[in-house]
Amino acid sequence: MEPVIEQEKAVSMPRIGDNAPEFKAITTQGDISFPEDYAGEWVILFSHPADFTPVCTSEFMTFAHLENKFAKANCKLVGLSIDGLYSHIAWLRTIKEKIEFNGMKHIEVKFPLIEDITMEVAKKYGMIQPGESKTQAVRAVFFIDPKGIIRAIIYYPLSLGRNFDEIYRALIAMQTSDKFSVATPADWYPGDDVIISPAGSCGVAEERMTSVEELDCKDWFFCTKNISKEKILKEILKK
Ligand code: BEZ
Repeated sequence: MEPVIEQEKAVSMPRIGDNAPEFKAITTQGDISFPEDYAGEWVILFSHPADFTPVCTSEFMTFAHLENKFAKANCKLVGLSIDGLYSHIAWLRTIKEKIEFNGMKHIEVKFPLIEDITMEVAKKYGMIQPGESKTQAVRAVFFIDPKGIIRAIIYYPLSLGRNFDEIYRALIAMQTSDKFSVATPADWYPGDDVIISPAGSCGVAEERMTSVEELDCKDWFFCTKNISKEKILKEILKK
């Protein structure tokens, strides 16, 4: 058989817009049925290469530190690595007892960490990328919406710790797009101008250019408006 076909068979890659693949798993917070246990909430499902490794430790501490911030945006966190439950428990205990990083210490990881020693979940989600490692998951981040649809995916190699500002920014940007039917331009943060959908007819294009509404049209296809940071955060964040 062609090697390339073998490789395709071994690695399924869910795509943006797909239903999140279903699985049942044992975690450090008990058993979960995914994604049904998270219906109505956003979830960030992320993988890391291995327990007791430094980059992963720095990432887990950062995610745990930010867990409440994500919860306020109606988003739960779920981690995964190809290690067993007892390794996970021992690692999380060590983090809490001994590790200090970036001013964080005594960090308790309260979100579930999936044991995936069989690689069943990692394979379903394309987290094993054999060119990088055949036995360790890459650093994948899946953003799954309240309907269980995959909305964004970011992959990082083993050596590169994730940027958590970007993960949070992407979550808030997608929620803003959903709530206000707008798109968000490069490097957008709440309070910056948002992009309104392109004109779909000549009439609308003309209207856009002559509108008295508070639009800033750089050209007929590129119109922005402002939604204040306060309005966005009031709509999106829990009280
Ligand atoms: C780490 O988390 O430090 C790490 C894990 C696998 C490969 C390289 C670094």
